[in-house]
Amino acid sequence: MQQTVYILNGPNLNLLGLREPEIYGHETLDDVIESCARLATELGLSTRAFQSNHEGVLIEHIHEARDQAAAIIINPAAFSHSSIAILDALNAFSGPVIEVHISNIHKREHFRHHSFVSGRADGVIAGLGTQGYLLALRHLATRLG
Ligand code: DQA
Repeated sequence: MQQTVYILNGPNLNLLGLREPEIYGHETLDDVIESCARLATELGLSTRAFQSNHEGVLIEHIHEARDQAAAIIINPAAFSHSSIAILDALNAFSGPVIEVHISNIHKREHFRHHSFVSGRADGVIAGLGTQGYLLALRHLATRLG
């Protein structure tokens, strides 16, 4: 059976393509999710994608991933910098977790330099634009294979 990778996106990422395009680019979240699904098929994986502006909803998807997903790719967006609850939920997931940021959070405001989620992530990709999601999938294909 194909292994499923959950792709979770946090607050404001529903506005990808519209929101601060000079930082986040012109691609929409639907474009990104579609590219991920296409690449996953080539790699022999499947993906399920969820976006929420609500911390609790993201946490529930992480709980669901415990028995539905082999791995998680997560862009927690602003919750990266604030949410111990998302960190705790990810700590209760046993598969690989890759944290993706479209922008290079280390090159931006000081408050973005720390991510609670990085304390759990097996890998962090930041600053490579939306390509980061595809690179995370390629890595997971070698790791899960
Ligand atoms: C982001 C970076 C975060 O600091 C910010 O709050 C976001 C998006 C990124 O993908 O670059 O919403 O996670």
